Amino acid sequence: MKLKLSSSVIPWLILLTCILLYLYSSVLSFYSSTANSSFIRLRDIRKSPTCNFSEGRWIRDPSYQPIYGANCPFHRNSWNCLRNKRENMRNINSWRWVPDSCSLSRIHPVEFLGLMRNKNIGFVGDSLNENFLVSFLCILHTADEGAKKWKRKGAWRGGYFPKFNVTVAYHRAVLLAKYDWQPTKFPGQDGLKGIYRVDVDVPANDWINITKFYDVLVFNTGHWWNHDKFPKETPLVFYEKGKPLLPPLKVSDGLQVVLNNVVSYIEREVLPRTVKLWRTQSPRHFYGGEWNQNGSCLFDGPLDENQLDLWFHPKNRGVNKEAREVNHLIQQALQGTSIKLLEVSHLSEFRADAHPAIWLGKQDAVAIWGQDCMHWCLPGLPDTWVDILSEIILNNLERG
Ligand SMILES: *[C@@H]1O[C@H](CO)[C@@H](O)[C@H](O)[C@H]1NC(C)=O
Ligand SMILES: *[C@@H]1O[C@H](CO)[C@@H](O)[C@H](O)[C@H]1NC(C)=O
Ligand SMILES: *[C@@H]1O[C@H](CO)[C@@H](O)[C@H](O)[C@H]1NC(C)=O
Ligand SMILES: *[C@@H]1O[C@H](CO)[C@@H](O)[C@H](O)[C@H]1NC(C)=O
Repeated sequence: MKLKLSSSVIPWLILLTCILLYLYSSVLSFYSSTANSSFIRLRDIRKSPTCNFSEGRWIRDPSYQPIYGANCPFHRNSWNCLRNKRENMRNINSWRWVPDSCSLSRIHPVEFLGLMRNKNIGFVGDSLNENFLVSFLCILHTADEGAKKWKRKGAWRGGYFPKFNVTVAYHRAVLLAKYDWQPTKFPGQDGLKGIYRVDVDVPANDWINITKFYDVLVFNTGHWWNHDKFPKETPLVFYEKGKPLLPPLKVSDGLQVVLNNVVSYIEREVLPRTVKLWRTQSPRHFYGGEWNQNGSCLFDGPLDENQLDLWFHPKNRGVNKEAREVNHLIQQALQGTSIKLLEVSHLSEFRADAHPAIWLGKQDAVAIWGQDCMHWCLPGLPDTWVDILSEIILNNLERG
C-alpha cells in the first residue's frame, strides 16, 4: 500500500528531503563535523516521532529467517534451541513483528557497528537481559567474525568487536541494588535460616562503577522479586542508610523503593550524553501451573490478541501476571526522568511458542527445574528486541 501511494509523492519527497538535507547540513557544519551525522538525521526524518514500536501484530512470513545459527560462539547452551533440537524452530522464527504506525527494519549489523565505532553498549540486570545480550552479540558477530569474548572486573560477560572497536557487555545485578546473605544468629521455631539484606540506596558492586564506560545502558530487573527466589526462611529485608526500614517492606514495596533509588543514581551518575534505556518486563508463559508445578509452554504459534488479558491481566490472577505488575512500578519510577522505556512486553506477550520449554540441552534439566517458559530460544524473539533497540539507539545517539 505504502509503495503505491508513494509513486505520486516521490518527487515531492525527494525535493523535501533535499531541502531538509541542505538545511541540516548547513546547520551541522556549524556544530559538528562527524561524518555520519547526516546519516543519522536522515533516519530521524524517516521515523515519525509518535511511532510506538510496541503496537502492532505478528505476521507469518516464511521468507523471514534468523541471521545467525547454532554455531554463534556467544550462545548459552540452554537457550541454543537449534542445537537442542527444539521442535518447530523454523515456524517459530518465521513470524515478523509489524508495528501499526511505522516500519521496523531489521538491524543491519555492519551499518550499525559502523555508526557505533569506538562506542560501548552495556546491559545491567537479570538473566533476561543476558538473554537479550546473547541475541545482540550473535547478530553483531555476523559483521565481525573476529569478535572476542570480553571480560573485566564486574562484567559478567560480553563481546568485543575489533573491526569497529565496540564493546557490548552484560553486568549481572539481579536486584540492581546491593544484597548480601546474612545467616541468622538465633535460629528459632520459625524456620528462619537468615536474611538477604538489600541496601536499597546502594547499587550492586557489579555495576556501581561502570556508568561512565558506556554510551548506551539498558537496565532491567523483575524476575527475582518473588517468594520463589526468596522464600520465608530466607527473605529479603530492606535497609536504607545502613538501618532496617521499619515496618519491614513487602517485596513489591521493596522493588518500588529500589527502583526509585536506582533511577536517581542513574540520573546523578550517568553522563548526560549516554542513551539510558529501561527494558520493560519480559513476560513468562507457564501454562497449567507454575514452573515447579509442571507449568508448560509447548505451543506451536503465537497467542491471539484476545487471549492476552486472560494470561497477563493482574485481575485474572494467572501465574504470569507479574510482568504487567512490574511494568506498572517501572513506569511510575521513570516518570519525569531522562531514562526512556524500551517497550518489549506487549509484543512478547504473544510469543508463548518461543521459549526453550523442554529442549534445554541436558537430560535431567526438566525434571529438576521444570520447563523453561521464561527465557527465550535463540535465535528467536529477542532478535526483534535487538531490531527495536538498534533503531532507538541510532535515533537517540547524537541528540544529547
Ligand atoms: C506503546 O504501546 C504499548 C502497547 O500498547 C503501551 O503499553 C505503551 O504505553 C505505549 N507507549 C507509549 C509511549 O505510548
Ligand atoms: C576504542 O574506543 C575507546 C572508547 O570506547 C577509545 O577510548 C579508544 O581510544 C578506542 N581505540 C581505538 C584504537 O580507536
Ligand atoms: C567504586 O569506585 C569507588 C570510588 O573510586 C571505590 O571507592 C569503590 O571501592 C569502587 N567499588 C567497586 C565495587 O569497585
Ligand atoms: C507433575 O507431573 C508429575 C508426572 O506426571 C506428577 O508426578 C506430579 O505430581 C506433578 N506435579 C504437580 C505439582 O502437579
